[in-house]
Amino acid sequence: MEIKVFKNDEEIAEKAAGDIISLVNSKNNPVIGFATGASPVSTYKRIIKAYNEGKVSFKNVTSFNLDEYCTIPKSDKNSYYTFMHENLFDKIDIDEKNINIPDGNPANVEEFCNGYDKKIAEKGGIDIQILGIGRNGHIGFNEPSDIFTEQTYKVKLTESTVEANDKYFGSASLMPKEAITMGIGSIMKSKTIILIACGIEKAEAVRDMIKGNVTPECPASILQKHSDARIYLDEDAASLL
Ligand code: F6R
Repeated sequence: MEIKVFKNDEEIAEKAAGDIISLVNSKNNPVIGFATGASPVSTYKRIIKAYNEGKVSFKNVTSFNLDEYCTIPKSDKNSYYTFMHENLFDKIDIDEKNINIPDGNPANVEEFCNGYDKKIAEKGGIDIQILGIGRNGHIGFNEPSDIFTEQTYKVKLTESTVEANDKYFGSASLMPKEAITMGIGSIMKSKTIILIACGIEKAEAVRDMIKGNVTPECPASILQKHSDARIYLDEDAASLL
């Protein structure tokens, strides 16, 4: 793991966006794994700025998102489909047909999930995967558990995750309790992983990820075993290291 502590979110965004832009400008058909949530938003703003300044084009980029809520339609204002389009895709020149976001309501869950991993492999694997981390140490929606999950699958969200995200839905009762997520195995196949964490509420999870045992009780701890995991933290998130 490469751990870098930055003064603030803006500095993290500059570095993370720089890593992505360098990849896109140096590879023919790059594949990027995107995350939703608050953590990558400043990075996405930086990417949009660079695109507007003519410094990068996403025409040849294929994207795969980590996860999507079940039960709500993709047109819902809280779907990750909507999030990604509003925060990034509608503001750059990525081709809609190269965008992959899990279907939260597939007719056949197993078939869909197998197909998602297969498509990632067919595209040559993910070059850079962006991650955030949950307060409980989750990555994607891989919640603390007894085993490290392998492939894309349907997961039941924990109370901690519902609590952290129900503000977007107005109340916990309106928030979906299940999601489709890439598995830990799918995430670990990415060539480079960039995990962004900001704020004191992430400090314990960050400490467990970096200093704790590698255990599915803290799913992000598996990143200790990745050959190119870059952990970008602000001072608060790094405060227990
Ligand atoms: C999002 C995702 C989640 C978030 C995590 C942190 O696609 O898979 O693992 O990255 O819950 O969320 P924020 O960034 O909102 O604190």
